Amino acid sequence: MRFRNLLLFIFIICWASLMRTSAQQWVVPDDQKGKVAPFMFSPDLQKQGEGIYTKNCVSCHGMPGKDNWVKQLSPPPGDLAMVKAQKQSDGELFYRITTGKAPMPEFRNILSEDERWWVISFLRTFNPKYVQPNPAGKGVFTGKVVKLQMTYDSVQKKVKVFATELTKERTMVASEGIGIMLFVKRYFGNMQLGDPKTTGKQGLVLFDFPTDLPGDKEGKVELICRVNDASGSISSSPVTSTYAIGVPTNKPGLTETRAWWSTRDKAPVWIILAYTISVIVVWSIIISIVISVIGIRKLNRT
Ligand code: HEC
Repeated sequence: MRFRNLLLFIFIICWASLMRTSAQQWVVPDDQKGKVAPFMFSPDLQKQGEGIYTKNCVSCHGMPGKDNWVKQLSPPPGDLAMVKAQKQSDGELFYRITTGKAPMPEFRNILSEDERWWVISFLRTFNPKYVQPNPAGKGVFTGKVVKLQMTYDSVQKKVKVFATELTKERTMVASEGIGIMLFVKRYFGNMQLGDPKTTGKQGLVLFDFPTDLPGDKEGKVELICRVNDASGSISSSPVTSTYAIGVPTNKPGLTETRAWWSTRDKAPVWIILAYTISVIVVWSIIISIVISVIGIRKLNRT
């Protein structure tokens, strides 16, 4: 009987912790709620945001307003054009996109702060009542405007990024001393290739490309370069290009086979088995205890 009590105790603890994680709250700290975008949303930025949304968010949330989000996910991601998401402040949305919550990935290192704001500017186009709060710094941008160009040099086997900046005379000149980061697009986010590099006098940086990086069936990989700027004093857009420079790989789609990150009906057999068996065990112990308690009471009466 002692041993059984111990087992029961262990199961109750496991059960309770399971219940807790599934109901975990996603609280936005008070000081984050009032955060606002550092620039005015414009049709241009909304377009950028749409591009980022279709690459990073559609797979779970579907297209806003279409109610075509992935119904098998738990908790439900929902349609971000709906009131539940739209009644939140920009700061709340920004915090949720930044921090994520399983199964939603955190976008802190996947999207730059600007990119996260662009996505929000896109989401707000589905809310006719939305009025953007005054941007922090009143939208007067005094930093550099930098434009990037990326090419692949197949002779040197290097990725070249060329940075130009807009002068006061409104001409573009080579931009020196700009930190550049290079990423390769992977399933859930971007993998950084090498360390950030700083452009030289000609506005150029060269990145080595690893020779063993898997690409798609034709060896294509999508590269993304962007400015490494923590201070927010540089305005620039990331540049994306696809090159057939990876190792051709035939990989099945992420949700085509059974995997623990897949949807519920594609869960691996061992998870389904382990889950079902533990539920059965817990319930049979609870039932056997109830039966013994009834038995003890009956014994007492006689
Ligand atoms: C792997 C699936 C997945 C991806 C990819 C994903 N999300 Fe989510 N998202 C979720 C889930 C699931 C929730 C619900 C979490 C909860 O409520 O506990 C959620 C919740 C949210 C919320 C809060 C919604 C609300 O009603 O409170 C926002 C905002 C959001 N996601 C934005 C985004 C954006 C923007 C992207 C792309 C940059 C994105 N998500 C990518 C799965 C995902």
